[in-house]
Amino acid sequence: PSEREALKARIRTLLRERGAIMVSHYYVHPDLQDLAEETGGLVSDSLEMARFGRDHPARTLIVSGVRFMGETAKILSPDKTVLMPDLDATCSLDIGCPADDFAAFRAQHPDRTVVVYANTSAAVKAQADWVVTSSCALDIVRALRDQGHKILWAPDKHLGAYIERETGADMVLWRGSCVVHDEFKAFELEQLRRDHPGAKVLVHPESPAEVVAQADVVGSTSQILKAAAELDAEVFIVATDNGMLHKLRTLNPGKRFIEAPTAGNSATCKSCAHCPWMAMNSLRGVLEVLETGLNEIHVDPALIPRARQPIERMLAFTA
Ligand code: 13P
Ligand code: SF4
Repeated sequence: PSEREALKARIRTLLRERGAIMVSHYYVHPDLQDLAEETGGLVSDSLEMARFGRDHPARTLIVSGVRFMGETAKILSPDKTVLMPDLDATCSLDIGCPADDFAAFRAQHPDRTVVVYANTSAAVKAQADWVVTSSCALDIVRALRDQGHKILWAPDKHLGAYIERETGADMVLWRGSCVVHDEFKAFELEQLRRDHPGAKVLVHPESPAEVVAQADVVGSTSQILKAAAELDAEVFIVATDNGMLHKLRTLNPGKRFIEAPTAGNSATCKSCAHCPWMAMNSLRGVLEVLETGLNEIHVDPALIPRARQPIERMLAFTA
């Protein structure tokens, strides 16, 4: 067998022997997505990754994704062992929102309900009233607005501004961004839509407002996948990380999926919309952590109860 098949076979055996289960995000390498599914684990968006990790009986979780996903799994199940293929796999939103600066920001707005995106550290989540992901952020903020809450939002400015526009809620925004989605270009997207007049446009809400404005559907990775299955079109233009194309194509063989333009992929680079941290996950990395038990995620035990509350609130809201 090829080296790749040999790695996969060895991982399957070790997962069984160790009683471990694998959870993968849609942006990681297709091999890691398929392997998670084949072995009884899950490939999904960040909300369902969190729920699955919490509810699955396995004592060891292998999280293929980025650090905040591993930390969320650990916060929800402190007694489980959470391993990640590469502990340096972080997220520009997490990096751009240090806990101390966030505490100072919060102190300027003591009257506001604190809603933070899941793409943050445990130390930021521990300061939140609510944690949300892109699949439930709109519904949660709408409900808070209806109860008269004013919102302090962090860290993604595009997602925050989108929620503000859609709900009319009173929001103060932290100004972070995702290095991948921030790069989608509205003008080039307009041109691409002219070349494909019947195409439907699917956009992740971490993208700039001018890109979101051209969307037929705005949603999380799972919501994008659902829309692609349901919408009646031959061609789809997709503004999210191109790791998503694997599932979109395998589940919709009769449909065509085109990457939305970024500054790079319009001329020189055909696949620039890929998160450098998601790309750190590999078969070899998964095998190594299963063999050695290294790369365990630890979260400061003092933070866990405080960080768990707003995540559990989100999971209860979306149950
Ligand atoms: P989803 O919650 O839509 O999976 O998004 C996570 C993420 O990191 C998007 O860049
Ligand atoms: Fe973070 Fe963007 Fe990577 Fe998602 S794609 S993990 S938001 S940097």
